[in-house]
Amino acid sequence: MTFILRGEVIRFDGNPFTGGQMVLDGDGGVLVREGKITDVGHISEIVTRHRDLRVVETNGLIAPGFVDAHVHYPQIGVIASWGADLIDWLNTYTFPEESRFADRGHADAAASAYFDEQMRHGITTATSFCTIHPASVDAYFAEAARRGLRAIGGKVMMDRNAPDGLRDTAQSAYDDSLALIERWHGEGRLSYAITPRFAPTSTPAQLEAAGALARAHPTCLIQTHLSEQPREIDWVASLFPDALDYLGVYEQSGLVRQGAVFGHAIHLTPREREVLAETGAAIAHCPTSNQFLGSGECDVRGLIEQGVSVGLATDTGGGTSYSMFDTMKSAYEVAARRGTILRPEELWWLATAGAAEALGLGDVIGNIAPGMDADLVVLDAKATPLLAQRSARSNSIAETLFTLIVLGDDRSVRATWSAGELVGGREFSAQS
Ligand code: GUN
Ligand code: ZN
Repeated sequence: MTFILRGEVIRFDGNPFTGGQMVLDGDGGVLVREGKITDVGHISEIVTRHRDLRVVETNGLIAPGFVDAHVHYPQIGVIASWGADLIDWLNTYTFPEESRFADRGHADAAASAYFDEQMRHGITTATSFCTIHPASVDAYFAEAARRGLRAIGGKVMMDRNAPDGLRDTAQSAYDDSLALIERWHGEGRLSYAITPRFAPTSTPAQLEAAGALARAHPTCLIQTHLSEQPREIDWVASLFPDALDYLGVYEQSGLVRQGAVFGHAIHLTPREREVLAETGAAIAHCPTSNQFLGSGECDVRGLIEQGVSVGLATDTGGGTSYSMFDTMKSAYEVAARRGTILRPEELWWLATAGAAEALGLGDVIGNIAPGMDADLVVLDAKATPLLAQRSARSNSIAETLFTLIVLGDDRSVRATWSAGELVGGREFSAQS
C-alpha cells in the first residue's frame, strides 16, 4: 500500500534538549510505502514528487506514534489500586494479580485489553514487563504480532522476596528467558528485553544469570527498576552490603550498558548518575507513577544535560494513565515543582523520539523521516468542547500541542497507524 497522509505534520530535526527543533508544517504530507515513511515535506512538494498517488486527507495533526519506555501490561487489572507505598502496593495488589498469569487464557485476555488501551491512546511501541510465566510473554508477543505492532517485552525474573507461585530460580529464569529469546527476538518487529524485576527480588545468582544472557544476546534490551523509593533503596543496601550503591548491584552482574533501561531512577547518587552517562544506559521517567506512589521527582533535565538518555513511560499499573498526554502533563508538573520547567517540544520529544532513543530505536521509530516505520498518530485538537474553544485561541501549532498535553485524552486520538496500517483510534473504532 502506498499513499500520502495530508495534515499538519509535527516532527523533529534533532533533540530539542540539545539545540534541535520541532518542525511544524501546517499543510504537510507524509508518503507511506509498504509500512515505511519514504518522504515528508510540504504537501505541494510531496504531490509534485509523487504524482497520481492516493492522498488521505486527515484534517488533523500528524505526529510520530507515542513510545512508552516502561510499562507492565499484566497490571491492567490492578491499575488504580490503593497502596501505602511501593512495597505495600506490590504485595497487596500486584503480586496476587501477576500470579494469575500462569493461566494462558488470563494472559491472553489481559494482553488483548492492554493493546486495546495502547492503540486507543496512540502508543505504537512499548516495552513491557510480563510476569515470571513464559505464557505471559507468549500472550504479549502473539497479540502484538496479530495486530502488526512493534513491541518489546520480557519474562520477569524473580527468585526471592515474592510470594509462593511467583518465584522462579536462577536456572529456570535463565532457561525460560533463553527459550523466549529464541522464539521471539527479531521475529518481525518484536524484540526481547531481559527483565530482572528489581534487585530485591533477585538473588545474586539470578542477577548473574541475567548478566550472562545479556552478554550472549547484546541486541536484547535489559529492563529493570532503579532507586524508586527510599525504603526500597535501604532494602537493597541490606541485601547487597558489598555493592557501592543500588546501580552498583546491577553493574556487578554486567547489567549496566547501552540498551539497559532503568525505570524511575529518582534518588540517584552522583556516582550513579556518572555511570549512567558513561555507559550509555537509559532511564524511563515514570511521572504519573512516581506521583501516585509518592516516590519522588526525577531530575529529567539534569540527567539529560549530563548526557543520560531519558524516555517517558506510563509504568501502568503503578502509573495511573495509558495516555501519553497525561504522562507529559505529569512530567511538566514534576519539572515545574523542581524549578526545571520542560517546554512543550521537550515533553513531546520525551514521549516519542526520546523514548525511542532510550530503547535503541532512535533511527526506526519516534519521528517522521524517510526510512522510519510508518508508526503515526492523527490527533484532533478540537475533540472536546473545552479543547475546541482553547485551540481556537491558539497562535501556533506549538501552543496547540501544549493544550493537547494538558487537556487531551483518548478522544483526541483520531487514528493510530502502525507500519502504514490503521490499527487504533476513534476512526478505527468507528470502522470496526
Ligand atoms: N518495582 C518493582 N516492581 C515494580 C512494579 O511492578 N511497579 C513499580 N512501580 N515499581 C516496581
Ligand atoms: Zn515498573
